[in-house]
Amino acid sequence: MIVGPTGSGKTRLADELASSAKEHGARILWGRGWDGGGAPAYWPWSQALRDAGQTLDPPEPADAEARFRFFETVTESLRAEAARQPLLIVFDDLQAADDDSIVLLEFFATELPEMSALVLALGRPETARLDELGRHATRTLEL
Ligand SMILES: Nc1ncnc2c1ncn2[C@@H]1O[C@H](COP(=O)(O)OP(=O)(O)OP(=O)(O)O)[C@@H](O)[C@H]1O
Ligand SMILES: [Mg+2]
Repeated sequence: MIVGPTGSGKTRLADELASSAKEHGARILWGRGWDGGGAPAYWPWSQALRDAGQTLDPPEPADAEARFRFFETVTESLRAEAARQPLLIVFDDLQAADDDSIVLLEFFATELPEMSALVLALGRPETARLDELGRHATRTLEL
């Protein structure tokens, strides 16, 4: 995780890491939160999955079991992608992400150690569920 206020260099740092990872053969998936209003649920995930040529099919918000199955589907799909080519998945501007996107990230993080994948989670200090997310992070860099 990289946490810091606006202008502290989070995106720039992720850009540098992505360039380096790409040179080393990784595939880069990049999603970002949108704070301009009107973004659909799981928007950062939609973008990251789109970079992998996939589309998301989110469940009805009130259906907890469908949400769990959706989390599993997304995780398994990325597990398959990572088996083909190592992944660097960047989630930028998480302070502007919907809470369910963060919960999915927590779910996904528990499966990460078995995958050839690294997630960079970037957000300002006001990011929702920052403490919960931080418990899953290998390392948290505060800028
Ligand atoms: N190490 C660096 N050396 C030189 N310029 C830098 C460095 N890190 C960041 N910058 C510059 O500082 C500005 C702000 O950086 P950046 O956009 O990465 O911030 P940020 O933390 O992502 O901000 P935000 O939360 O608003 O997205 C950019 O113009 C970036 O190019
Ligand atoms: Mg930024």
